[in-house]
Amino acid sequence: MSRAVIYREPGGIEVLALVEVPDSALAAAQVAVTIGAAGLNPFDTKARSGFLALEIPFPRRIGMEFAGAIESVGVGATYWDGAPIRVGDPVLGWGLGGIAERIVVPASQIARLPLSIGAEVAASLPTAALTSLQALRVLPVGEGETVLLGGAAGAVGIVYAQLAIARGARVIGTASVGKHDFLRSIGVVPIQYGEGLIDRVEAVSKTLGEGRITAVQDNHGREALDVGVALGVPRDRISGIAGYGAIAELDVLSVGPFVRDPKDLEEITMRVASGSMTIPIAATYSLEHVGAAFAAFEAAHAVGKIVIIP
Ligand SMILES: NC(=O)c1ccc[n+]([C@@H]2O[C@H](COP(=O)([O-])OP(=O)(O)OC[C@H]3O[C@@H](n4cnc5c(N)ncnc54)[C@H](OP(=O)(O)O)[C@@H]3O)[C@@H](O)[C@H]2O)c1
Repeated sequence: MSRAVIYREPGGIEVLALVEVPDSALAAAQVAVTIGAAGLNPFDTKARSGFLALEIPFPRRIGMEFAGAIESVGVGATYWDGAPIRVGDPVLGWGLGGIAERIVVPASQIARLPLSIGAEVAASLPTAALTSLQALRVLPVGEGETVLLGGAAGAVGIVYAQLAIARGARVIGTASVGKHDFLRSIGVVPIQYGEGLIDRVEAVSKTLGEGRITAVQDNHGREALDVGVALGVPRDRISGIAGYGAIAELDVLSVGPFVRDPKDLEEITMRVASGSMTIPIAATYSLEHVGAAFAAFEAAHAVGKIVIIP
């Protein structure tokens, strides 16, 4: 048996329960991971609250990204490149039920983790990294461009911004004022979201590069998409990951469906290990304090990831 956080019905933080669950046996090509840390994501909140209609039976486990050590290896399980997986290997990965002491996932959902990266940082990367790389495939940005990034201070925004800047783009990112210093520290030009955004974007973009926005990536909902359209950015140079109603209505690019490739995770961990990518940790909580962790996460005041350390 091991402990996992579950919920038996949709609802608020109060529906979360820390329980003992049987340790499921491994099927072929699966691995079991002893979890060292698990990141919290908006998906967890949206699934728990019932905002997302999921065809997953109750009781449901929660969490979708983790880092830890290989506990056991199923028949035929290898890393993405065919290399053998060994008990004790440090890994990071994704799979429903990451907020727990143990998870079983297909070997195709894990990647090797350099020893220099701690579990908290590693567990913060899978969703933000895979989503950001997919966003950059759907809407590539590069040298000389100026990108308007909506929701730059979120986990996906932080990773996306660093990747876009590494590709030669300038990034103007919307965020609350308290997060502007951090955004400046990673090379983003921060601006406050909300009323009057279009004027602020125009004023700042005139001082940069070609003097205009050449691409828009929205990681929050709608506002940056509207600003992009109003500024005349071509619709095939505007994309979103969050407000699907607005994406369809405005006929701009949608980042989903997602391609999740463990090779991409290894690209990102190499960047973190070399110091060219950072993801801050806002706070860590034990499994016993998962409710407090979600309360802090849903308040969204701090910069960086909220992480559970079992
Ligand atoms: N489709 C997918 O597969 C997929 C994958 C990953 C994420 N997502 C979605 O993408 C969104 C972002 O995810 P995330 O992990 O980056 O979230 P996150 O880490 O929770 O960050 C959300 C950020 O949004 C900011 N924010 C709040 N109101 C805002 C506004 N009006 N304009 C701009 N920013 C605002 C908050 O910071 P401040 O208000 O303090 O600036 C907060 O830091 C979520 O809706 C998530 O569900 C989708």
